[in-house]
Amino acid sequence: MELSFKDKVVVITGGTRGIGRAISISFAKEGAKLIVNFLRNVESAKILKEEVEKLGGFCELVKGNIAEPETSGKIRKVIEEKFNGVDIIVLNAASGILRRFWEMDLKHFRWTLEINVFGQIYLVKSLVDLIREGGKVIGISSLGAQRAIPFYTLVGASKGAIESALRHLALELSPKKINVNIVSAGVVETDALKFFPNKDQLVEESRRRTPLMRLVEPEDVAKVVLFLSSSMADMIQGQTIVVDGGYSIVA
Ligand SMILES: NC(=O)c1ccc[n+]([C@@H]2O[C@H](COP(=O)([O-])OP(=O)(O)OC[C@H]3O[C@@H](n4cnc5c(N)ncnc54)[C@H](OP(=O)(O)O)[C@@H]3O)[C@@H](O)[C@H]2O)c1
Repeated sequence: MELSFKDKVVVITGGTRGIGRAISISFAKEGAKLIVNFLRNVESAKILKEEVEKLGGFCELVKGNIAEPETSGKIRKVIEEKFNGVDIIVLNAASGILRRFWEMDLKHFRWTLEINVFGQIYLVKSLVDLIREGGKVIGISSLGAQRAIPFYTLVGASKGAIESALRHLALELSPKKINVNIVSAGVVETDALKFFPNKDQLVEESRRRTPLMRLVEPEDVAKVVLFLSSSMADMIQGQTIVVDGGYSIVA
C-alpha cells in the first residue's frame, strides 16, 4: 500500500485557506513538494508556507486569479524552473456569487464560470505535457452539481460543468496513464460559507440530516484527495466520490 508522496510535485489551486489548505498540509506531511496558488489573501498564504516549511516541506506560492491564463503560465514556469514535471494537480479554487438568480448579471455568470470551470481546465491544458505518467488530476466539487440549493444557481452550474469536463478529460488523458477524478463534499464550515445569506440554516440542516451526525471537516476531504492521488486509486477513472457523511443518501 502506497500513500507516501515523497518528492511528488503537487499543484493546488486555492490551496492556502479552507479545504485547499487542509489538502496542502496533508500532502506536505507526506513529503510532497507544493506549488500553491491563491487569489489575494497574502497573509493566509504566508502562514501556509511557514507551516509547510516547519514540517520540512517545500512550498512555492503563486498569487493570481486562476481565471487568468497568466496564472497558469506562472505555475508552469515554476514547474519548468524547479522540477522537470508535475505529478498531481488539485483543482480546488472556486468563487461565485450567491444570490437569487434574477439579482445577478452576465458579469456574475462570467466571473463564476471563468474561475470555477475555464480557469481550472485551462490550467490542466497548460500543464498537460508536464504531467508525468501515473499522474493524477483531482477536481473539488459539491452536492450542488447534482442538486438544487438556494442562492447556488451559478456555483452549482459551474460544479456540474467542471464534473462533466473532468469526466471528458479522464477519457482524453487515459492513454497518457493519467487519472482524473472528483471529490464532491457536503457542507464544510470554511470562510466560503460566510457568503451564503442562509449560512446558519445550511449548517444546522446539514448537521441534523447527516447520518454520521457531524459536518464534513476540511481534513475529511483532504484524506480522499490523497487516496485518489495515490497508486491505490490507479484504476479509479472519471469518478465523483462523495464525502458528505451520508447526507445525500437520505430521502
Ligand atoms: N465549504 C464548503 O461547504 C464546500 C462544500 C463543497 C465543496 N466545496 C469546494 O471546495 C473548494 C474550496 O472551498 P473552501 O470552502 O475551502 O473555500 P475558501 O475557504 O473560500 O478558500 C478558497 C481558496 O481559493 C482561493 N481562490 C478563490 N478564488 C480564486 C481564484 N479566482 N484564483 C485562485 N485562487 C482562488 C482563495 O485564495 P485567497 O485566500 O487569496 O482568497 C483560497 O485559498 C471549492 O472548490 C468549493 O466549491 C466547498
